[in-house]
Amino acid sequence: MQPTLEQVESWARQAGEILRQHFRSSLKIRHKSLIDLVTEADGLSEAYILEQIRAAFPGDTIFSEEIGQVAGSSQRIWYVDPLDGTVNYAHGIPLYTVSIAFAEAGQLRLGVVYDPSHDECFSAEAGKGAWLNGSTPLQVTNPPDLDHSLLITGFPYHIRQQPGRIFPLFEYFALHSQGVRRLGSAAMDLCYLAAGRFDGYWEMSIQPHDVAAGALIAAEAGATVTTAEGAPLSLTPPLTILAASPHIHQQMLEGLRSVPDGK
Ligand code: IPD
Ligand code: CA
Ligand code: CA
Repeated sequence: MQPTLEQVESWARQAGEILRQHFRSSLKIRHKSLIDLVTEADGLSEAYILEQIRAAFPGDTIFSEEIGQVAGSSQRIWYVDPLDGTVNYAHGIPLYTVSIAFAEAGQLRLGVVYDPSHDECFSAEAGKGAWLNGSTPLQVTNPPDLDHSLLITGFPYHIRQQPGRIFPLFEYFALHSQGVRRLGSAAMDLCYLAAGRFDGYWEMSIQPHDVAAGALIAAEAGATVTTAEGAPLSLTPPLTILAASPHIHQQMLEGLRSVPDGK
């Protein structure tokens, strides 16, 4: 049996409701590393989503952020981030999402990202389009050039140990665009790109569960989605990603290629 977009949307909405109910409550917070957190709500949301997937599609493989890989027998893979934007969530900042993607034979088929704070459900089905709250079609922007584009990026938790080109790239794009934002949820970044709120997004070290759903949503909304090197996006970690309006993707790629390592 094939999952439907409506089914995945209802799971994402329900998991989002779990997060919303515990938002700004006295949750237990555990440190995975000095700056990488996990809250009780991550676990509650994840348990709910995994229960739904296992009950409906017991043979499927699941990659979920907190629990890791649940091996299945089929060619079908689910990518789950039960709470994307954990640091925001733990600080009471209402910018966080639930992200669920479904892939078959190596191709992303369904993607859903739900933002409970604003009741925005972004979804996409491969080859069919992308929508906000099930009905409003999503479409990326047509900025004239990079100078007139608003960009978004994010930073990995190993930024202190492996900063790589993160800071030189941030400087480059801050000086060659209208501005650069950092919201703290990669899934939200990609959906805002799909909705025409941002023009381009890049990130230099990210995991499949962070971007699988958002990448499909952005692509179905017309974005060009590649690695930061310009190759087709692969969901084998570690990933780099460049997703942008087709009008500025090439200019962003040239920027990414032109900036040397900061070390
Ligand atoms: C993080 C967010 C952030 C990105 C980090 C991710 P988490 O996920 O998506 O925007 O820059 O690399 O790890 O920890 O909030 O699920
Ligand atoms: Ca995440
Ligand atoms: Ca997470």
